[in-house]
Amino acid sequence: MSGTLWGISLGPGDPGLITRAAWEALQRRDTIWVYPARSGKTPSYAFDIVVRAGLAPPPEHTQLLFPMTHDGEKLARAWLRAAETVLPWLRAGRDVLFLVEGDASTYATFGHLARTVRALDDSIATPIIAGVNAFTAACAMADVPFAEQDDTVAIVPAAYGVSAVERLLPDFDTLVLMKVKPILDELIDWLERRALLDGSHFIERVGAPDERRYSGAEILQLRGTKVSYLSLLIVKHNHRIRGERIKGCLKKSSPLPIITETA
Ligand SMILES: C[S@@+](CC[C@H](N)C(=O)[O-])C[C@H]1O[C@@H](n2cnc3c(N)ncnc32)[C@H](O)[C@@H]1O
Repeated sequence: MSGTLWGISLGPGDPGLITRAAWEALQRRDTIWVYPARSGKTPSYAFDIVVRAGLAPPPEHTQLLFPMTHDGEKLARAWLRAAETVLPWLRAGRDVLFLVEGDASTYATFGHLARTVRALDDSIATPIIAGVNAFTAACAMADVPFAEQDDTVAIVPAAYGVSAVERLLPDFDTLVLMKVKPILDELIDWLERRALLDGSHFIERVGAPDERRYSGAEILQLRGTKVSYLSLLIVKHNHRIRGERIKGCLKKSSPLPIITETA
């Protein structure tokens, strides 16, 4: 019987955010760990999280290389190479744990790898252990709610540019801008121009020992500086004019509860 390819979500960097289910899976000594890295020179951030958690890898573990590129052919080649690396182990009945930074179903390489493996052998199961993603952890660290009551939220990679983000603005109370590194200066100009700095938070490598956070006007300090690929922006659109709520979960007529202090 074939082994299972597991997507193990590790949370965004703080080992305390590894779920109990992931932790239990990582205790198994009979599995093979694989983890993504951009190149042989760049250490795997996912592997670093488990090392910082004090978890010892099983005897068999290896890095899989996935280049940072939009070139579809190069990416497909990398997914195929990775799938061909894990397939013999899976066919030999071994369980393979693919370590994922954040949540394994959120902008993660795991989905591509799982699809490629299943295309080569549809008997292989590829379940995910869900985890904490970078943007909810970032909201917690920045002490800002991700969403409240009827708030609308958009989570978008900044790759589509400032004009795409601008188009979303009228409809969303919270914008989560992922992969902001390549256009950070343009985004900062836009936040300033649209008077959005007040409700904005930049968070880099949330949960890691070298985490950095900038809120409000502090974000201006980042202009022209180099930031990590692992950084994002939370933008709260505090002055958004909302449309009428047609039907919500709250009854319009219900009075607010009166809280009285008791001795
Ligand atoms: C390929 S996505 C991975 C998302 C991840 N699977 C998750 O659930 O959050 C990479 C982008 O996620 C964001 N990101 C991931 N980890 C982060 C971290 N520790 N701190 C800040 N942003 C992070 C950044 O915007 C980065 O460019």
